[in-house]
Amino acid sequence: MKKGCYFTTPIYYVNDVPHIGHAYATVVADVFARYHRLAGDEVFFLTGTDEHGQKVAKAAEDRGLEPQEHVDKMVGPFQDLWSLYSVSNDYFIRTTEERHQQVVQEIFSRLYEQGDIYKGTYEGWYCIHEENYWAEGQLVDMNCPDCGRPVKRVTEDSYFLKTSGYQDRLLEYIEAHPDFIRPVVRRNEVVSFLESGVQDVAVSRTAFSWGVPVPFDSEHVVYVWFDALINYLTGVGYTTDDEHFAAFWPPVHLIGKDILKFHAVIWPTMLMALGLDLPKAIIATGFWTLGDQKISKSRGKVIDPIELADELGVDAVRYFLLREMPLGHDGEFTHDGLVRRINDDLANDFGNLIHRTLPMVKKYRDGVVPKRPATAGRTAALAETAAGIIDEYNKNMRAENAREALIAVWRLLAAANKFIDSSQPWNLSKDGDDQGLDEVLWGLIETIRLAVLMTYPIMPATGEAAFEQLGFDESPGDKLFSDELVWGRLAGGGQTRPGSPLFPRIELEPKE
Ligand code: MSP
Repeated sequence: MKKGCYFTTPIYYVNDVPHIGHAYATVVADVFARYHRLAGDEVFFLTGTDEHGQKVAKAAEDRGLEPQEHVDKMVGPFQDLWSLYSVSNDYFIRTTEERHQQVVQEIFSRLYEQGDIYKGTYEGWYCIHEENYWAEGQLVDMNCPDCGRPVKRVTEDSYFLKTSGYQDRLLEYIEAHPDFIRPVVRRNEVVSFLESGVQDVAVSRTAFSWGVPVPFDSEHVVYVWFDALINYLTGVGYTTDDEHFAAFWPPVHLIGKDILKFHAVIWPTMLMALGLDLPKAIIATGFWTLGDQKISKSRGKVIDPIELADELGVDAVRYFLLREMPLGHDGEFTHDGLVRRINDDLANDFGNLIHRTLPMVKKYRDGVVPKRPATAGRTAALAETAAGIIDEYNKNMRAENAREALIAVWRLLAAANKFIDSSQPWNLSKDGDDQGLDEVLWGLIETIRLAVLMTYPIMPATGEAAFEQLGFDESPGDKLFSDELVWGRLAGGGQTRPGSPLFPRIELEPKE
């Protein structure tokens, strides 16, 4: 059986409705899942919700609801948003589901039995918002070093995970696998954290009860992060579907940089203790900001992804998320920036190529795409450019560099727009050069076909609409890239069906 590709997103806290920052990692993971499916790989793509812990319990209490009632209500907006944003997840995991709770309990018991979890007393400072313990030396002005909120002094019995016992093995692993934690700045951050010495992590709580009960000690619930990380195992069938699990493990995790330590320190410790392979990669994205602040509900800075999709279209927003900011960097989310990308990249570069070409096919060939020319002739240079760009695109997409892949595709669009100017189809028609005109028109439609295929993982709905206008009877997703993403596969002869602009220009209201 072919070895599968497994992509995950963070599972989102259901203390509030999702904002554009949440949509980011999910859309990025979706693009890679879609790409690999088209590349012929078996893909399993998981997202879901993180429903336990004090933060969620507090949100429920604030709304006067039982936690279960609260989480049942809050999960809908996430599922609806992913469906609006064309997210093609294969499963949606909720940490309150029975199967997951059982896996968490089994793992907790097993690690306890083998001595990787032990009972002790925790003394320190706790930040409810970050669901994290801090040592006094880590506090900033006695506040949480991550979110700046006040922390609470706690002393409680707790079960501990022996993270410290795995520190050296983990460091060696990171050393030997340079692509394990990306980008390199995050990898370095984890290395220096590990080198400074890690403490065992408290993995149970007694102060509240909204969590998975520790199976052999009813006073304790499992720490929400221990519970949440295990979603990546439950979701793919660990202990419940061995064949599925074996086909897809290990995963590629897409996460935000704020949750790096949980994924790059605690999680590998848990996996090593379980004797499982470590993730193929942990890719930490940066933050979308407004002004100089992270977009975040608790900071009062949000962008509503539903409004944005209504106004500008889902595919345009997906394109912007992937194209604007290099993976791993922070980037400012501005409406103007988004409109600029739509107008410059989508309407001008891509849209114009399509909406200049189709009218010529109509005018000179009654809308019928010329048959594939017998000789390369005028399209030879364009064909060579396209072949190079397809290689570059595939290489980048396989290395999870969607932005670079898109930049390459845009070079192809620029080459095709130039090709129109240099080959001057209107003069070929005037001069009665039928063969030349056929070659040029076929070459343009062929280039558009390839560009639509390459952007299909990013803009799936637009890809469907484009194929419709090009007169193809299939969807860009019907065949594998190995058959289709090759210069020269367009047979021609089809009747085009020009329609409304695929990328309408956005007119900005003039500023006062
Ligand atoms: N529940 C945990 C994750 C558990 S994974 C086993 C959690 N949830 S969260 O809802 O608070 O955040 C989920 C993800 O959204 C994080 O990776 C976070 O980085 C990301 N984002 C939240 N706001 C963001 C931006 N403004 N920009 C980019 N991503 C951001 O943490």
